[in-house]
Amino acid sequence: MTTPGVIDDLSDLGLIPEPQEIDVAVRLRFTLTATTVLDADERSAEVAAWLRGTLGPATGLPLRDGHGPADAITLRVTDPTTSTASLGPEGYRLTVTTTGALLEAETTAGLFYAAQTLRMLLPSAVFRRAPISSGPWDVPAVTITDRPRFGWRGALLDVARHFLPKQDVLRFIDLIAQHKLNVLHLHLTDDQGWRLEIRRHPRLTEVGSWRRESPLGDRRHQRFDGRPHGGYYTQDDIREIVAYAAARHITVVPEIDVPGHAGAAIAAYPHLGNTDSPSQPDQPEVATRWGILDNVLNAEESTLQFLRDVFDEVVELFPSKHIGVGGDECPTGPWEASPRAKQRIAERELPDADALRFWYVARLAEHLAAHGRVLYGWDEICDGELPPDAVVASWRGITGAITAAKRGHDVVLCPEDQVYLDWRQSDDPGEPTPIGKVSSLEHVYTFEPIPAALSESEAGHVLGAQCNIWTEHIDSARAVDYMAFPRLTAFAETVWSDSRDRDFGDFARRLAVHERRLDALGVEYRRASGPLPWQSRPDAPGWPR
Ligand code: ACM
Repeated sequence: MTTPGVIDDLSDLGLIPEPQEIDVAVRLRFTLTATTVLDADERSAEVAAWLRGTLGPATGLPLRDGHGPADAITLRVTDPTTSTASLGPEGYRLTVTTTGALLEAETTAGLFYAAQTLRMLLPSAVFRRAPISSGPWDVPAVTITDRPRFGWRGALLDVARHFLPKQDVLRFIDLIAQHKLNVLHLHLTDDQGWRLEIRRHPRLTEVGSWRRESPLGDRRHQRFDGRPHGGYYTQDDIREIVAYAAARHITVVPEIDVPGHAGAAIAAYPHLGNTDSPSQPDQPEVATRWGILDNVLNAEESTLQFLRDVFDEVVELFPSKHIGVGGDECPTGPWEASPRAKQRIAERELPDADALRFWYVARLAEHLAAHGRVLYGWDEICDGELPPDAVVASWRGITGAITAAKRGHDVVLCPEDQVYLDWRQSDDPGEPTPIGKVSSLEHVYTFEPIPAALSESEAGHVLGAQCNIWTEHIDSARAVDYMAFPRLTAFAETVWSDSRDRDFGDFARRLAVHERRLDALGVEYRRASGPLPWQSRPDAPGWPR
């Protein structure tokens, strides 16, 4: 048992992700009280406001504006040329003494991470939304110098298979920001739902945003729930999500998945599909099955124009430099069975139907480039010529990352066998809809984003990594909590912290402390002992590999 504010061991601080450098002055502390002030310069004002809004509700402390350094939390954006050691674009230094806390960084992003670390150093009750404790609000005296290992620290949320209400997306943004992630990849469209309002093409959400029913468990069981599922984000919802994320130094990377996985768009506008192919029904509906389906856009110029319209609205809504176009799991059967598609393939002098995939990718890359944006696609896009600057998300293992980096392209690692958080967490048959192989907390923790096959200069193309939360079998925010936590905390450490310090035993000790914070926040993470009875899904059986 440790006395609050008195640290016997660094792991007692429970800092996740682990900072690069930390010194603790044993038994010394700074105590926040009603007289403690926030001393922020102009460039730090936004982070100071966030800190007040975050610490205020639980502590009940006013944290008024004032002047330090005594009895103050002082925030400073420093000039990189004058600081002794460069902290880098997202690094920070946090110095806590008995009289105050000093947060320094070269950017507001770095300062925000300093503020997140300060929050973790307080008692876990600070993570609540109302006071249940009168303190003491002690911060141990530490000096932390910290910076992330990678610039792309992401999480993908599949809001297409199961819609996640806006409120839950905002909560998820707070949770990933707390773990110092900085990219939220939103998978907005798929066969089973289109979740983004497009003004020019309203049927995408009028028709495409809901389905009749959903499978219960793995598709091979042929069970269905007989219950409609749907939802979408209005453009104002998206503006709110993007701004909320930006205030937490998170870029929202949107993905419109084409030319495969386009079933919801084809249900809304059947002429986008291969109407002359026997695999397209006369009255296509939003898919009610999971898997790789034959819902592939046709090869018409008018369909490309439709996509240009869609991406015009996407780039207007999302300031992200990278824009996702999918490009994964696109069967060519519907094109091979379509006389019109064959005609377009011949007119464009493409060697075969497969080349249509890369034709789409190239045209969309040109369109995005005209908007000053860069195409982001799944590693299937490496099967053809990569458009200039295209960034590749390597999901079928790490091969795509190796191929693309050797061809001089930037890559993001998200190999399915390690950081797909929809895969089961243990061999326990009670895991909710257990699919894939086991991807335990420790397995995620041992993830190394840089493939060993890359030379040092090739490794420079690794922007970072992201964990992917696919939601075929994750139908609510509660289920997201269970699948994402605590594995996402382990993932956060793989992209932030120094790989030389990787020690699962130490991580597990810090996680035990960190779980008190997740408890205070109301995160329904998976317990080390396994699923609680109500976290199992006997009604929705899985198909473990
Ligand atoms: C993917 O998992 N199909 C990218």
